[in-house]
Amino acid sequence: MKKIIITIDGWSSCGKSTLAKQLAKQLGYVYIDSGAMYRAITLYFLRNHINWLDAEQVNNALAEITLAFKFNNKTEQSEIYLNEENVEYVIRDLVVAEKVSEVAAIKEVRIFAVAQQQKMGEEKGIVMDGRDIGTTVFPDAELKFFMTADIAVRVQRRYIEMFGKNPNTSIDDVKANLEMRDYIDSNREISPLRKAADAIELDNTSITIEEQLQIAFKLAKEKITGK
Ligand code: DC
Repeated sequence: MKKIIITIDGWSSCGKSTLAKQLAKQLGYVYIDSGAMYRAITLYFLRNHINWLDAEQVNNALAEITLAFKFNNKTEQSEIYLNEENVEYVIRDLVVAEKVSEVAAIKEVRIFAVAQQQKMGEEKGIVMDGRDIGTTVFPDAELKFFMTADIAVRVQRRYIEMFGKNPNTSIDDVKANLEMRDYIDSNREISPLRKAADAIELDNTSITIEEQLQIAFKLAKEKITGK
C-alpha cells in the first residue's frame, strides 16, 4: 500500500496532536509531535542557563542535545527523550510553554529541528503536527491540514488539561500564554505559522473529536488508495 506524509499545522491548543495521534493509529503510521522537540530544546536551555540570543551558546548547546522518540507500550504513545531522559511530561509545564516560542524563533534551533524532522519522514507513513510542517518541513506532503478553533474554546480546553496537572493554574495565565505564542509563532521571521496554499482547513470549534477524525481519515484513505 502506498505510504504518504500527512501534516497538521495550526494555532496552539487546536487539538492538532489529538487528531494526529488518532489518525496515525488508525492508519498504522508513525506520529511525530514536532512541538515536543522545540519544548525539549527549551527545557535544555532553561536548565543549562543558555542565552538563546547568543548564537555561539546556542550552537554549543545544540551539539550536546540528542532527541529521540520512543514508543511507550503502556501509554501507547510515542514519548520524547532528551539525552536519554524521558521529558514527555515536564516539557508541558507552563515554565517551558512561556519560553518555547522565543526559542523556536531562533534560526539555529529551527535548522537543527527541521533537519531531524525531514529525516523522520524519509520513509513516509508519518503524521507530523506543528506550525511549519506543511510549509517548510514537508512542502510536498500528499495531505495537509490546517487546524483552527475559536480562542475561547482553545483556552477552555488547554485550561482543563493544565488544571488536571496543576490546580494552581489560572485561566488568565493560560489565555495569555496561548495568545502570546500565537502572536510570536505567526510573526517570527523564519517559517512563521501559515496555512500552506494546498492545506485543508479544519475548524473544530463545534465538531467532536470523533467527527474530525472521520473527516481526516476519509481524506487520508482517498489519498492513499487514489479513490
Ligand atoms: O505544538 P506545541 O504547542 O507543543 O508547540 C510548542 C511551540 O513550539 C509552539 O509555541 C511553537 C513551536 N513550534 C514551532 O515553531 N514549529 C513547529 N513545527 C512546532 C512547534
